Amino acid sequence: MDAIFSYLLPLVALFLSLSLIFRANKRDSGNLKLPPGKTGWPLVGESIIFALAGPERFISERMRKHSPDVFQTSLLGEKMAVFCGAPGNKFLFSNEKKLLTSWWPKSMKKALLFPEFVDDSLKEVAALSHGFLHEILKPEALKQYIPVMDSMARQHLDEEWIPNGEVKVFPVSKKYTFALACELFMSINDPKHIERLANPFTLVTSGMFSVPIDLPGTAYNGAIRGGKMVREELLSIIRQRRKELLEIKETKYHDMLSRMLLETDENGELLNEMTISNNIIGMLVASYETTSTAVTFVLNYLAELPHIYEAVFKEQMEIAKSKGPGELLKWEDIEKMKYSWNVAREALRLMPPGQGAFREATTDFTYAGFTIPKGWKTFWTVHSTHRNPKYFPNPEKFDPSRFDGSGPAPYTFVPFGGGPRMCPGKEYARLEVLVFMHNVVTRFKLEKAIANEKVIYHSSPTPMSGVPVRLYPHEK
Ligand code: HEM
Repeated sequence: MDAIFSYLLPLVALFLSLSLIFRANKRDSGNLKLPPGKTGWPLVGESIIFALAGPERFISERMRKHSPDVFQTSLLGEKMAVFCGAPGNKFLFSNEKKLLTSWWPKSMKKALLFPEFVDDSLKEVAALSHGFLHEILKPEALKQYIPVMDSMARQHLDEEWIPNGEVKVFPVSKKYTFALACELFMSINDPKHIERLANPFTLVTSGMFSVPIDLPGTAYNGAIRGGKMVREELLSIIRQRRKELLEIKETKYHDMLSRMLLETDENGELLNEMTISNNIIGMLVASYETTSTAVTFVLNYLAELPHIYEAVFKEQMEIAKSKGPGELLKWEDIEKMKYSWNVAREALRLMPPGQGAFREATTDFTYAGFTIPKGWKTFWTVHSTHRNPKYFPNPEKFDPSRFDGSGPAPYTFVPFGGGPRMCPGKEYARLEVLVFMHNVVTRFKLEKAIANEKVIYHSSPTPMSGVPVRLYPHEK
């Protein structure tokens, strides 16, 4: 009997899910002309194909096969319209709040946020934090952090980068960028405390864009467990800081948490602890993989392309020579790093750390002759333009001169997105990458230990061996 059930149950489940899909498609299609494409298997949709093919191939194949403007798929358990090319990016960036609202996958919300917020579709939290994040991450506010970034980069290289040895750039960059975020966001600099946050945090970032199957051993399950640990740790930090603030009426800290503790909402009330925690987690998540991936691939290209390295070295040495012994970098120095920033941008074009972003249609609307029904999710992606020869001739070539003058055409180079929801951490990332570049190239010449290292995709491109490089210190 048991054996019969074990055969029958999966068949019944398959039949039910197929009939549900059939009914859903029938209801969806009606008279509407939906974007072409396939939604794949029940629940997993095309997520597995996406993971196996990698985002770039997945997108370019479907643009060729279905439509260069917009196609449908199903990812992370959701029906999705993927908008393509510069016009697709422009459309989504310009219709924020008119036709679309922000949307995050369930896996991300469950891992990152307090359960109270999960069913609220995150709008409330994002709305509260969006303008405020832009405020605390704008260039004027970040200038004061440049010397801190510089001294931490120096200390990091002293401790982790071994002269005449080899270093794996990816793991050490992660260590540096996470330690920097802990310092600048919350003034946490005790290595043990940083590690206590970093370990569960890695679980979160590994599983936050996974298929939402909550079983022991799945990435989704790990992300939820990790998120709970990070939230508990953050809550205790926030409570302690709020207590100090109430007792001594002022704060000795100049970090972003202090700003949040003093911030009030539209009713003049101080932000509650959960909101602050959600915002700090959001910033940690948004900055962790992205900035470490950016640093890693910039250094990867510098190690691979000696002529690019030499030009960056020249620019950075001029800045280094203009400074007194031990004098730290400041805003004016960063402004001189023009060629280095073009190099970093070219690395962001070829290896963009963020893949794009989701939205939800708030009403039925038409794009390129197809209807996107209300409730559908949309996705814009760097992969439809960054290596597209239509926008970047000879796209595989590493060529920083693409950014000379007015640079690439609008809506084609979009590592930070665009429109009102453009990444508020763009300037933080620019400073962090440039300060790190300065420190590395003024101390070491780099040589790649593995040529043509394979890159796989988690939430960001991940070099399989961590980009090992040999380090040759410059003669003093
Ligand atoms: C190289 C580094 C980075 C890249 C490539 C990057 C990329 C992105 C992208 C593509 C988005 C989605 C935009 C959209 O929804 O259309 C985004 C959003 C966001 N980023 Fe970044 N980011 C980086 C660093 C940072 C840093 C350092 C922070 C914070 C300190 C940060 C904070 C955020 C936040 C809070 C959002 C959500 C904004 C919103 O929904 O309104 N990012 N980022």
